Amino acid sequence: DGFAGSSLAKEDGQPQQVEGSFSLSDPECKGSNLSITVVGASGDLAKKKIFPALFALFYEDWLPENFIVFGYARSKMTDEELRNMISRTLTCRIDKRANCEDKMDQFLKRCFYHSGLYNSEDNFRDLDCKLKEKEGGRLSNRLFYLSIPPNIFVDVVRCASLKASSKNGWTRVIVEKPFGRDSESSSELTRCLKQYLTEEQIFRIDHYLGKELVENLSVLRFSNLLFEPLWSRNHIRNVQLIFSEDFGTEGRGGYFDNYGIIRDIMQNHLLQILALFAMEPPVSLDAEDIRNEKVKVLRSMRPIQLEDVVVGQYKGHSKGGKSYSAYTDDPTVPKGSLTPTFAAAALFINNARWDGVPFLMKAGKALHTKRAEIRVQFRHVPGNLYKRNFGTDLDKATNELVLRVQPDEAIYLKINNKVPGLGMRLDRSDLNLLYRARYPREIPDAYERLLLDAIEGERRLFIRSDELDAAWALFTPLLKEIENKKIAPELYPYGSRGPVGAHYLAARHNVRWG
Ligand code: NDP
Ligand code: BG6
Repeated sequence: DGFAGSSLAKEDGQPQQVEGSFSLSDPECKGSNLSITVVGASGDLAKKKIFPALFALFYEDWLPENFIVFGYARSKMTDEELRNMISRTLTCRIDKRANCEDKMDQFLKRCFYHSGLYNSEDNFRDLDCKLKEKEGGRLSNRLFYLSIPPNIFVDVVRCASLKASSKNGWTRVIVEKPFGRDSESSSELTRCLKQYLTEEQIFRIDHYLGKELVENLSVLRFSNLLFEPLWSRNHIRNVQLIFSEDFGTEGRGGYFDNYGIIRDIMQNHLLQILALFAMEPPVSLDAEDIRNEKVKVLRSMRPIQLEDVVVGQYKGHSKGGKSYSAYTDDPTVPKGSLTPTFAAAALFINNARWDGVPFLMKAGKALHTKRAEIRVQFRHVPGNLYKRNFGTDLDKATNELVLRVQPDEAIYLKINNKVPGLGMRLDRSDLNLLYRARYPREIPDAYERLLLDAIEGERRLFIRSDELDAAWALFTPLLKEIENKKIAPELYPYGSRGPVGAHYLAARHNVRWG
């Protein structure tokens, strides 16, 4: 036992720098084994996202020939019970081909369960024995997915690393957010993880980076002549990053109250999109080149001012004979909680490309709609010959590019167009790329892409530690100020458009929310 294997920390506590790249198409890897251990297998995320994503990868033949999946948690379960649990959430959403049931059976036969404590090296040693037995002496790569609350990340990494690392292949660990709750706790988490893992072994997931339209952002920018020349303060008036959900924190209030919407959505999902949106063209598509550019954006950001932020919290509301509870009605939320379930903020990037352009973020729960969008509003046409056709509201005439991340993925560009006929009447039309019309094939879930990338050692869509530091450096002072000053959130009714303060904030920056 001890620090054997290529992927473990050395005895001086410094992680070894090892990692071979691994590609499923590499002939040398064909005979090897892939063991995926889902830690926290009894939980919500594992059931909802991880097992279904693994099945989808298997169904589409993305997994190597020899793979096994282990569930690990404290709950007592047999292999058969795990399979029953997983099978309840597997669907043949990819296509309805007749062999789906067969594929499910084949997949489930590769799934096993080991019950153990998260801080027990002995229990992880037992897991290692079971893994070895199934791996049958082949070269074996091991992926651990930490689908557990953050307070036990380090225990699991310690035990898995010391007792269940691969002895002859790579060992990688996917970590789910939250990565701390401010700069200090995040650095501490990174420091602890790095006692047992190298940075190359840690895959910090931000599942928004695995969403189709977010991945497409760079393709749109860098493989079309059209957009990149316009991608700056010279042509773009403002950028909006919008996340809204039409349900509250139901069932997750206990977790949520300790974090709030700024940590839950803005500091990670929306900021990651902002960085990809605003970065300079990277030297190549290599993960390090892309992440270098993202970090530069994050480090160029102006500190966020409290007056550029609006926070809100949903209150109870009755609509159509149905009543919706307030955030604070959740029994797991402390009475009088000031935790924001909504926030809007204006951010600025102090560099040559973006100086003065407001990036407006809006994120909220229990709003009137569920959507995630990137909206780019362009400047007015100078000396517009058709000015008089727009009346007094010239803002309505500016072009707008919308990337609808979800639902119903689409990219559309709002243009001004002549209404056909005699006379000269203009209206706003959309050049519309609706994914479901253009690409009938089902779009993979973000977790499928990210799991596959982690298996292949592709880090482009995972968060590097310096990116994480920069993201926390931006938001920590604001979060502390909000908490220290006990800023009361503006209440908004469940199912509404959010606090009116968000509209005043946008108006102060000459922005109209899309
Ligand atoms: P759960 O709360 O369902 O926890 C997962 C498992 O961890 C549970 O089944 C339980 O297994 C074990 N566990 C729960 N609480 C504790 C505890 N206090 N101490 C020790 N073990 C515990 O989490 P989720 O599945 O919802 O999420 C997993 C991770 O993913 C979390 O970090 C979460 O923040 C993150 N996440 C979740 C999302 C979601 O949609 N659910 C979305 C994005 C991120 P057992 O008792 O069997 O050991
Ligand atoms: C998670 C947040 O990261 O993302 C949740 O913790 C949120 O609060 C979820 O509901 C939204 O993800 P998606 O993919 O459903 O938009």
